[in-house]
Amino acid sequence: MHFLITAGPTREFLDPVRFLSNRSTGKMGFAIADAALRRGHTVDLIAGPVSLPSPPGLSSRIDILSARDLLKAVQDRLPACDVLIMCAAVADWRPKDVASTKLKKSEMNGTLELVRNPDILKTILPQKRLDKQLFVGFAAETGDPQMEGTRKLREKGLDLLVANDVSQPDVGFAVDTNRVLFLTSNQPPRPLPLMSKQQVGDEIIAWAEGHSASI
Ligand code: PMT
Repeated sequence: MHFLITAGPTREFLDPVRFLSNRSTGKMGFAIADAALRRGHTVDLIAGPVSLPSPPGLSSRIDILSARDLLKAVQDRLPACDVLIMCAAVADWRPKDVASTKLKKSEMNGTLELVRNPDILKTILPQKRLDKQLFVGFAAETGDPQMEGTRKLREKGLDLLVANDVSQPDVGFAVDTNRVLFLTSNQPPRPLPLMSKQQVGDEIIAWAEGHSASI
């Protein structure tokens, strides 16, 4: 199978030296890519700014910075893939204006005007080949992720939503472990125990392998 996997944060610049971003390190997305490669699949990996080496055997690695870069990279490679896994932590907002030179304190008034970034999953949903592709998303929540995760599963038209409670110290951003909840539209929620991100990657790839026959 051909996997398209996104990982890491996006950066939304307000001038050449300052940006809005989040705490994603790419560990979870890279672990999924590694799991797919270990199981003999073809993998294109789209990575935000992270300091991780590529897992050996990638078909391609595309490095991006902003949410809009990520959208274009996903759209370009979507037609070739069987499974899209959106693990990237995408900034929902970006500064309205981007200065071409470093802003001086005297030029800043203490208010940053923001505009919405595109929702990548919602934007590409009409391009999904319904009978041929699986779309997997993540939900990073603080607190019980089931309710918000279920909403995102439905609104983003996903086949699988992997929800994690990132307020836990051993879960989510920057750590080597994760505790996730698998949400689908036709099965009861499936909570997985605390495991390494490699093991979570194996579980996600095994899920995709098991469901590719149904598309
Ligand atoms: O990288 P690590 O340090 O290992 O951390 C892992 C992780 C916490 C980043 C990962 O486990 C995780 O939860 N990734 C998803 C983070 C996120 O953006 O969640 P969300 O609930 O804001 O977004 C829901 C889904 O919509 C995600 O699949 C996201 O990729 C996608 N999205 C979000 C915003 C946007 N504008 N477009 C999108 O498509």
